[in-house]
Amino acid sequence: MKKKATFLLLAGIVIVLLRFLLIKADNYTSTNEYCNSCHVHDHAHTSWVESVHYNTPPHLKKARCVDCHLPPKGHGYYKEKLKAGWRDFYAFHFKDSTEYNWSEKTQIEQARHHTYKQSCLLCHPKLFPVKLSENGEMAHWHYTQHKNEMHCIQCHINIGHGNKTKTHNLSILRNRTQVDTTFTEAATIDTFETYTETIPGSDVSFKMMAVEGGVLRTQQKDTLIKSFFIGEIEVSWDEYLLFLSETEGEGRNENQELDGISGATPPWGNPDQGWGFGKRPAITMTHHAALAYCRWLSFKTGKTYRLPSALEWEFASTKAIKNTGIHHKIANTNNTQTIEPTSIQADLLGVKHLFGNVKEFCSDAANANEYIIKGGSFKTDIKELSPQWSETTQHKQWLKTDPQIPKSIWWYSDCNDVGFRVILSYQPEQIN
Ligand code: HEC
Ligand code: HEC
Ligand code: HEC
Ligand code: HEC
Repeated sequence: MKKKATFLLLAGIVIVLLRFLLIKADNYTSTNEYCNSCHVHDHAHTSWVESVHYNTPPHLKKARCVDCHLPPKGHGYYKEKLKAGWRDFYAFHFKDSTEYNWSEKTQIEQARHHTYKQSCLLCHPKLFPVKLSENGEMAHWHYTQHKNEMHCIQCHINIGHGNKTKTHNLSILRNRTQVDTTFTEAATIDTFETYTETIPGSDVSFKMMAVEGGVLRTQQKDTLIKSFFIGEIEVSWDEYLLFLSETEGEGRNENQELDGISGATPPWGNPDQGWGFGKRPAITMTHHAALAYCRWLSFKTGKTYRLPSALEWEFASTKAIKNTGIHHKIANTNNTQTIEPTSIQADLLGVKHLFGNVKEFCSDAANANEYIIKGGSFKTDIKELSPQWSETTQHKQWLKTDPQIPKSIWWYSDCNDVGFRVILSYQPEQIN
């Protein structure tokens, strides 16, 4: 009897002690200092300091690392903490640090597994505060209809790190400051040679490379391809934003002056995914939007710019890598985001990023709703790529989380690696 009492007493003391230690350990491992003891290299802390969740108004607490990267207590907090703790500990001590792919962890696909929406909701229980904008209301209503498959960070990806938290607003992008010259005339083509197109009324120009025609041999048949010019780079944000700024009409207005080219609606979230604008390829527009861009560019320049056919694309890319093959100096593949053309070598045609960077729309329809895309993207494995590589668009899947009704005809909400490049047929009669 006495023995049992002593045992119970001892067990009690041990349990109390253990609990005390566990709480201590939990408290210790919940501090930012603890997380930052490893996460210094990657600026996770510096970028957190720049964010709205650090710079909160005086009466509101800052959100700590664990406030977002662990679920709230009662929602699997301890389980996830142990799992994450073990993952980080194991990786830190046993994995080669070159194996960590930090930029991949900044992408929605991965971030939805290491941030918890229950935690967002703990601090933001009201999704319809009075001061919420109209855009926000529509978006949050959409969220409430698709709670199970959606995570807050699909629209608020930059919320924890860095100061780019506001969803981009097209009217701000539009006011890009003009530099140097404003072109008054489009380019004239004098010879079958590479030329620089200049968009009148803007400071935007881009190069078009001459591709001499010939026979394309495929397994099915030989096809004669006529000479054409092809964009040195994929249509960049500089060009695409100019198009948007001149035509944007909330999808409602027909802009008479621009030959009835109706405008694109502003996108949800960040159309550039936070990677930057400038000469990076414009991405996430629909095939319909790419065609509207071609019409607009043709109208502006008095030429007939268009999307390449899949065969023209294949022909150019075959020439571009003749005898050299596809290698990493010319292709941005096995990566997590687009890169700027300055960071890559040109191929044999003087063209950049035919392979990788973004998948490129072709004019050919694959069926009633989908189109052929060529070239692979930053996500594609370089070993899979070839001039013959092709896929089709996935219209429905790429619009899965678009909150608009009807869904946008201008922007894909769920595809961040598609873009396009323009070509122009070579017509000798154009040249005097
Ligand atoms: C012992 C060092 C160490 C500590 C302490 C640490 N981490 Fe990590 N963390 C790492 C390493 C290493 C990785 C990369 C894991 C990998 O790629 O396999 C990582 C990955 C992550 C990721 C990305 C998760 C993913 O899906 O790959 C997040 C988020 C994260 N840590 C948050 C935290 C938070 C929050 C804390 C504090 C509670 C913390 N870490 C404490 C070393 C650490
Ligand atoms: C308000 C929520 C929030 C807070 C607070 C927060 N994060 Fe994050 N964190 C995110 C989101 C969302 C992502 C994915 C997007 C990104 O990288 O910006 C992320 C990404 C990460 C990653 C992986 C990507 C990378 O760049 O390394 C790590 C590691 C990380 N956070 C660690 C931390 C640490 C350490 C702290 C505290 C100093 C912290 N986080 C605070 C929301 C948060
Ligand atoms: C510990 C509490 C806490 C957590 C967890 C938290 N937030 Fe916040 N959040 C805040 C505070 C405080 C502010 C600043 C509010 C203000 O300025 O009125 C804020 C601001 C915001 C804003 C407004 C930003 C702006 O530009 O005005 C958004 C959007 C947001 N949070 C989304 C999220 C998302 C998404 C998550 C989950 C990944 C999250 N928050 C997690 C406390 C939190
Ligand atoms: C479909 C996109 C979408 C989703 C999903 C989404 N939001 Fe938002 N959220 C928005 C938009 C758009 C705004 C308004 C931004 C603006 O007007 O600048 C907004 C605004 C906010 C704000 C700022 C409100 C204010 O005071 O102005 C907070 C906080 C917020 N969201 C939290 C969340 C949380 C938490 C979740 C997940 C439970 C979430 N959001 C899911 C798109 C979304």
